[in-house]
Amino acid sequence: MAKARCGPSIREFLTYHVLMLLAAKRRTMLELVEEIEARSAENRSVRSNGALRVNSREMEGTVYSLADRGWVRLRPPGASWGITRAGRRARREMGRASRGTSDSKERAASKLLARLKEAPKGSYVLDVGTGEGFLARRLAKRGFRVLGIDSGAFDYSKHSIEKARRGVGSDNGRLEFRKADVTRLRRPPGGFDFVVASQAVHCMKNQRKCLRAIHRLLKPGGRFLCLDFLVGLEGFLAHGFHCFLAISREEWSQMLPAIGFDDIYTQKVRDYLIVDASKAHGHPEPSHAAAKDAETACGRKRDQCRRDGECRSTSMSVQDVGSDSKGWFR
Ligand SMILES: C[S@@+](CC[C@H](N)C(=O)[O-])C[C@H]1O[C@@H](n2cnc3c(N)ncnc32)[C@H](O)[C@@H]1O
Repeated sequence: MAKARCGPSIREFLTYHVLMLLAAKRRTMLELVEEIEARSAENRSVRSNGALRVNSREMEGTVYSLADRGWVRLRPPGASWGITRAGRRARREMGRASRGTSDSKERAASKLLARLKEAPKGSYVLDVGTGEGFLARRLAKRGFRVLGIDSGAFDYSKHSIEKARRGVGSDNGRLEFRKADVTRLRRPPGGFDFVVASQAVHCMKNQRKCLRAIHRLLKPGGRFLCLDFLVGLEGFLAHGFHCFLAISREEWSQMLPAIGFDDIYTQKVRDYLIVDASKAHGHPEPSHAAAKDAETACGRKRDQCRRDGECRSTSMSVQDVGSDSKGWFR
């Protein structure tokens, strides 16, 4: 399967970021490479391969294309690159054109909820990585029965579930919060009608395993709706290097069918991306090698799993998120 992490969105980001760095001070090619890696290093606290790595050849491609446009030039005595007046103007325009606004998450959430407007009231919805219940609350208000789960994976989210419970109020009865990791959650009889995730997939340690778990938890024909940062310049301006932990449009379209989803729809809403996909009713069995090595969705090795029928459909071999043929990430 072709790898898709190296989308044009990363080049777009690099173009902007190089201009931004050079606007502050002159730098050599090597300094640009090192600085980008250092600035994204914090991503490693979420995933070991989450930091952006740009090698010297990729950086040369970017800098020389900027030089061709007259936006940067090599300054005497010869080794450092600096920005030109035209480059400063271009950077300002790029920033202005794509800067998200503070209500873009609200807007993206409304678009996601609108995709559920035909769904029967009382449908059972799982909100994964619910935090303090941003989506769960809105779903319960619309008449859905909602379970919000959060593993408390980070310092800031350790007490999210307690906080979410405190705010339940009048939605009580339709809305439940539980501290749980999605990969360990028991599937309710029949499965969930919908699984949603708001700004959560990007910070999951093992995205592939979590997405397989989501697939397992859904009923056949159920839908997964995700709202997360857009990978690229708009996402970067609004969310910084964290946007590169998110899954790009190209990656979603490769990963989801491999896990067993179909009818895939993606929509860009400013600096967010919405994904909507259905759990396919039937999809191909994994290859023998993939099946042998794969963990089942319940977390056990395939041959140790007794719930074979349920897990069979989820033990596909899927591309690792974060790896890519151009070596942008490690
Ligand atoms: C950035 S917060 C988003 C909170 C909320 N959904 C929102 O939109 O404001 C992401 C949450 O995902 C949770 N999380 C990460 N990995 C998880 C997993 N495997 N299972 C459940 N929750 C997870 C984290 O603890 C964190 O609270």
